[in-house]
Amino acid sequence: MWVPTPPAPPLATRLLSGNQLPKMLVDPPGPKARAFSARLAASEAPGINTLYGNEPNILWQEALGANVLDVDGNRYLDLTSGFGVAAIGHRHPAILRAIQSQGEKLLHGLGDACGYPARVELAERLVDIAPCRPARVHFAVSGADAVEIALKTALLARPRRERLISFDPAYHGMSLGALNASSRPLFRAPFESQLAKTGVRLPFGGDLSELVRQLGTGKVAAVLVEPVVGREGVLFPPDGWLAEIERHCRRTETVLIFDEIFTGFGRLGELFAFRLAGVEPDLVCCGKALGGGLPIAAVVGRQDLLDSWRSPGEALHTGTFVAHPLACAAALATLEVLASDDLVARAARLGREIAPRLQEWPERFLEVAAVRGRGLLWGIELRHAPAAQRLVQGCRRRGVLLLAGGPEGTVAQLVPSLAIAERQLMVAMNLIEETLTA
Ligand SMILES: Cc1ncc(COP(=O)(O)O)c(C=O)c1O
Repeated sequence: MWVPTPPAPPLATRLLSGNQLPKMLVDPPGPKARAFSARLAASEAPGINTLYGNEPNILWQEALGANVLDVDGNRYLDLTSGFGVAAIGHRHPAILRAIQSQGEKLLHGLGDACGYPARVELAERLVDIAPCRPARVHFAVSGADAVEIALKTALLARPRRERLISFDPAYHGMSLGALNASSRPLFRAPFESQLAKTGVRLPFGGDLSELVRQLGTGKVAAVLVEPVVGREGVLFPPDGWLAEIERHCRRTETVLIFDEIFTGFGRLGELFAFRLAGVEPDLVCCGKALGGGLPIAAVVGRQDLLDSWRSPGEALHTGTFVAHPLACAAALATLEVLASDDLVARAARLGREIAPRLQEWPERFLEVAAVRGRGLLWGIELRHAPAAQRLVQGCRRRGVLLLAGGPEGTVAQLVPSLAIAERQLMVAMNLIEETLTA
C-alpha cells in the first residue's frame, strides 16, 4: 500500500545565493542520501536512479545559480549545469517570475490543438535565430523528440529516400529513431532488432569518401551531426569538415541537420556552433538550455522543409505536452537573460581565460591524456575509466560536481553555467587540480 511521505523536517541549510563556494558537511553520499537512495532503488526501475552502478548517489535538495545543495546539507559547485540545462544558472529569478506569471494564466495548452501568446512569441524568437531565411519552428518535448522530428522532416521532404546518415561517436537520445542515429553499443544492443537498417553511421571527423558515395546513391534523406560531439567525449571535427559535408549535402539536396541540443545557446561562446563553423544547416535541433530547467525542445530551420508537415487532418507528430505554456514562458525568459547579461560573449571570454591552464593538464597530470574544449564546454580525457571515476568521485568529495562521458566513460566534462561567478570557476579548477594531484 502506498503511504504518503511525511513532511520533510525544516532544513538546517538553504541556498541563499547561487554564487557560493563549496561547503562539505559529510562525506557524500551522506546518511540521508543513502536512505533516500535505498528507497528509490526499492521503488524505481533500476538503472536510472543512481550514477555509479548500484552505489548510492547524492540527492539534490536545492539548486540555485551554480550551486547545488544535497539532502545532507553539502553545498557543491555544479560543473554539469544539470546536463547543460541550467546555462543561465539554476532557478534563475527571471525564470521563476515567468513561470509564476504564466501559471496564473494558463497551465496546460493542448499540444497541437491550440496556441497561446507565450508560444507565439517563442516561435517568433526561435525563427529569428534560425540559420536561414525564411524559417519555421517545430516544437518538441525533449531533445530526442526534436531529433525524431528533424529526421521525420527529412523523410517527409525527400519521400523517395530512406537512408539517414549519422556519425560515430554521437548521442542523439534514447527513443528508437534517435537511438538508431546514436552510436554507443551499450544503448543500442538490447533494441538492435528494432533499429532500422536504413541508418548508416560513419566516423566522426573522418574521411568523407563513404559519405560522398552514400549521397551519390540518391537514397539518403538526411545527414545528422553534432557539430561538436558532447556526451560522447567532447570531440571537435577537423577544420572545414562540417563545411565539406554541407557542400555535399547541397549538391545532392540532402537535408543537413545539426544537433545543437548540447552546444546550442552559447555553450561554445557563440549562440550556435553552426555560426562558428560558418555552415548553414537546413535544420537545427535545440533543447536542454532552451527551457532553463523546463522540458522544451525545438527544430528550427528551412521553411520549405518544415512546410512538409502540412497535413489534411490530424498533426503527424505531436504530444500532449508539446510547447507547454510554462516551458514556453521559461524559454522566453532564458533567451532574454542570455541576451541582457551577454552570457554568450561571457562564455567565450571565460573559455579563453581557462584554456591555457586546462591545456597544461596533460603535461602536469599523468592520468590526463588530453583536454579539448572551447567556451564553457571542456572534456578532460583520462587514460582509463577508473581514473575518470576517481576524478569524478574525488571532485564530488571536495564539492565539485562533474560527469564522465565518452564511449568508454573516460571523459570528464566541464559544463558550467555560463553565468558561473569567476571566483567559483577558479575554485572549481583548483579543486579539480587538487584531486588530480591526489
Ligand atoms: C546532442 C544531444 N542530442 C540529443 C540529446 C537527447 O536529449 P534529451 O535527453 O532531452 O532527450 C542529448 C542529451 O544529452 C544530446 O546531448
